[in-house]
Amino acid sequence: EATRAERRDLAGKHIVVTAGGTREPLDPVRYLGNRSSGKQGVAVAQAARQRGAEVVLIAAHLDIPAPDDVEVRSVSTARELQRAVTEEAATADIVVMTAAVADFRPASTSTSKIKKEKVGDSYQLSLVANPDILAELSAGKRADQVVVGFAAETESDPQALLELGRRKLERKGCDYLVINNVGWKTGFSTDENEVVVLDSRGRIVMEASGSKASVADRILDVITSA
Ligand code: CTP
Ligand code: CA
Repeated sequence: EATRAERRDLAGKHIVVTAGGTREPLDPVRYLGNRSSGKQGVAVAQAARQRGAEVVLIAAHLDIPAPDDVEVRSVSTARELQRAVTEEAATADIVVMTAAVADFRPASTSTSKIKKEKVGDSYQLSLVANPDILAELSAGKRADQVVVGFAAETESDPQALLELGRRKLERKGCDYLVINNVGWKTGFSTDENEVVVLDSRGRIVMEASGSKASVADRILDVITSA
């Protein structure tokens, strides 16, 4: 068996990976965010690079450094991520959406710090939906392009988790959906992951658990074997 360093099965491929979590500003000093660390996305970018791909990492507030030998585009909000990934997807063979994209953003962003004296004892936040980037990429993809989504769910029952994943797959229309269970202590900030991968018809094509690096390699195996 070839070692990871020797396996150049992605040479000539252009892969775009989104990673991390977007932040939606409320005012110059505050934002709505999430707990995604970016570790699984960084692991996918690194594994793809090691296998010879040309990698662009679209990075939204990573907790860890990006690999040195990949091109990094830093973004903050969902709409910035949308613009970057749409541009990069035009020339990509594979798009992997590991980023945790904020579903909603504040309906307005204050240009100065929101003052509690002005707001009073309670404060209603008004939010509007962000674009569903994965659904848009899937709808607009070329026939030879592979689009991969990630679904982070807080559902510990395996059957219910699969059901959620299949419904999400239908809404997104991606080629593969990587489902993982996240909670207060699992999934986002850890170095290990446990995933189930569905193909576009909702069939289980892979199950893996282990380091995020090994899970990344298994995901790339699935994509390249198609
Ligand atoms: N995603 C996206 N654009 C959004 C929200 C999510 O592209 N506005 C992508 C994520 O990058 C991920 C996939 O869609 O690859 C699934 O994200 P997830 O949050 O699990 O799904 P949602 O459809 O947002 O459903 P919910 O949060 O209600 O579970
Ligand atoms: Ca979401």
